[in-house]
Amino acid sequence: MVSCQSKDPVERQIDDLLSQMTLEEKIAQMTQVCGGQISDDIAEQIRNGVGSMLNSVGAEADYYQRIAVEESRLGIPMIFARDVIHGFRTIFPIPLGQAATFDPAIVEEGARIAAEEAIQAGLRWTFSPMVDVARDPRWGRVAEGYGEDTYLASCMGAAAVRGYQGNDSIVRMAACVKHFAGYAASEGGRDYNSTWIPEIQLRETYLPPFKAAIDAGSLSIMCAFNDLNGVPASANKHLNVDILRDEWQFDGVLVSDWASLQNMNNQGNSVNLKEATKLCMDAQMDMDMESKGYPRHLKELVEEGKVSEKVIDDCVRNILRMKFRLGLFDNPYCYTENPEYFTPEALSAAQKAAEESAVLLKNNGILPLNTKYSTPHTKPMVLVCGPMANAPHEQNGTWCFDKDDAMTITPMMAFRDLAKEGKIILIEQKGEHWSREFNKENIATLARLAKQADVVLYFGGEESILSGEARSRAVLNLPGDQSEQIRAIKATGKPVVLTVMAGRPLCIREDIDRVDAVLYAFHGGTMQGVALANLIMGKVAPSGRLPMTFPMGEGQIPFYYNYKMPSRMMAKSPKLINDIPVRAYQFSVGETSYWLEYGNKPLYPFGYGLTYTTFEYGPVVLSDTSLVGSNSLIASCEIRNTGNCAAVAVPQLYIRDVVGSLTRPLRELKGFQRVEIPEGETRTVTFEISEQDLAYWHLAEGVSLGSEGEYTFSAEKGDFYVWIAPNAAEGEYAEFALVE
Ligand code: NOJ
Repeated sequence: MVSCQSKDPVERQIDDLLSQMTLEEKIAQMTQVCGGQISDDIAEQIRNGVGSMLNSVGAEADYYQRIAVEESRLGIPMIFARDVIHGFRTIFPIPLGQAATFDPAIVEEGARIAAEEAIQAGLRWTFSPMVDVARDPRWGRVAEGYGEDTYLASCMGAAAVRGYQGNDSIVRMAACVKHFAGYAASEGGRDYNSTWIPEIQLRETYLPPFKAAIDAGSLSIMCAFNDLNGVPASANKHLNVDILRDEWQFDGVLVSDWASLQNMNNQGNSVNLKEATKLCMDAQMDMDMESKGYPRHLKELVEEGKVSEKVIDDCVRNILRMKFRLGLFDNPYCYTENPEYFTPEALSAAQKAAEESAVLLKNNGILPLNTKYSTPHTKPMVLVCGPMANAPHEQNGTWCFDKDDAMTITPMMAFRDLAKEGKIILIEQKGEHWSREFNKENIATLARLAKQADVVLYFGGEESILSGEARSRAVLNLPGDQSEQIRAIKATGKPVVLTVMAGRPLCIREDIDRVDAVLYAFHGGTMQGVALANLIMGKVAPSGRLPMTFPMGEGQIPFYYNYKMPSRMMAKSPKLINDIPVRAYQFSVGETSYWLEYGNKPLYPFGYGLTYTTFEYGPVVLSDTSLVGSNSLIASCEIRNTGNCAAVAVPQLYIRDVVGSLTRPLRELKGFQRVEIPEGETRTVTFEISEQDLAYWHLAEGVSLGSEGEYTFSAEKGDFYVWIAPNAAEGEYAEFALVE
């Protein structure tokens, strides 16, 4: 914490302001209210010193800011916040899709563009990035995060913070890393549900992306809705004080989630809003987002001696510090009447992100289309169909309040352009269709149209409303009668390319088996149509990789790549349910770890993705067989492009700690790269491995599990395996030892 006597000029200005503020003004500063309309009541609250507003945009935000600066007693500017999650006006792929790019640079670029667009509407604070590590695709908010892996989420979260905020000389917009912490572990994938996470798992799996975002400079952090180990995150002293403030020395703003003080009464941890307010103050939560607990009860709690004014001062300091860091006091107005949105630069970055985010899961050779049906004399007859083929609202995905559907290019529009250019003959499915539709007539029409086509491009998936906050699903199918549509089309004998535009991994094994190629594209934003047409026609080779394990069926969930080894090893070819003879002897199927219906593998592993060429990975070569203390090792591998076109390989560095004082995951991602390799050529990729990469959270020596103990983050001596592999399930490892 920065002391009041600090010489730092910003701290001096904060002290100066604070000394002039009344208790009421301090509490108002700690209050965030919701906008959306011009109202006398809100204007009055602002005159009285309210510190922040969410969802007040454009001319309205400007109007309120002028009241704060010109009509409140101390003229402290407000900070206007909004969920600018994957773009403001120009929409980028949902964060899960961005994670599939394995390209932090494009995440940073997307965040920079989002911030530059949002600032013109008066906004200086975004509630993003969400870095909750999510291992359960039933949870609708997987759409909003960077998937199942701690390292990938850390890299992407930090990149987003850099993009939103800029650097010390330009601070564009404050990032708010969320939801602190453990939210994605909601039991059963049901949103807002409770979580129980042992300290070591919390530190190893869930907290590092928050730390990475804070190290990247995130000016704020948001509490989660869930209770963690019995204590709602908003009032969780262990998280918010011990870890965030004391251990990490975070001096930015800790804001509640929407109305979460009221939710604490539902959670049964406090009898009323006043008690919830007191508990949040005990946990040093700086700002109350729309719960109304702080404005209603804080003064009374101070007067009763239940909350000290010193804690209030600390909270206000954090809030003012963020405002100073953003330069709001010098430049409170950023709204412009003539904003520049959808610039060519923004559209091209959004298109690149959408291209990089699509993952080719299957291809029996039909893709790219250009080489299949075009000759100098013929062009392919292409049927473009499916509920996502021409659905701008849906392809933009969850969380984009400020998008413009009229600026969104759907696959249908992109293929119409190709038809105009004479590259294909387009057959269109007419009418509006949605993912949950059941319509027998539509199925018959599709089968009839398919007969006329050389190839069918079916764009299916989920409407945007089916993923995101409060959108848990128990059945992860293609909703409505999409599977039946695909069956009917396939029955015509025509080849089918299925493109899935969804907010989460779906369990669609049978649909995938039925079609000839599958591109998993998530919800890809403004330019997704162009991006998909480029990928399908082969103008661009796919380079996305899965940021989550794709299970065979819902019953395997949670299934993530970096699990711990089960006590009984997994059979190479486990006996499945229909292979077991009647009245089989109890142990005749063996005693190994698998699901009778599926075996022990997912449908596709984390990190998986094909392209239009093939890559051959050579053996992992280590610069040494042992790693000593502060030295590092170089792991390298040759990758050869053995196919017919240039493409991007995404080598992934995985490490396994073979034996630990606590059991260790099967493998853990520690690095990745995107490497463009021309046809027939070879590239050598190298990764540096240091002792820090081998460290993990465990108990300090001599402390036993379950006892009051000190946790330590360190590496233990012993053997390690290293893979440089195309995904989490492939490759051969090399071995080294960490020695004294
Ligand atoms: C609730 C969500 O959990 C959070 O992520 C979001 O930023 C706030 N609402 C504000 O809209």
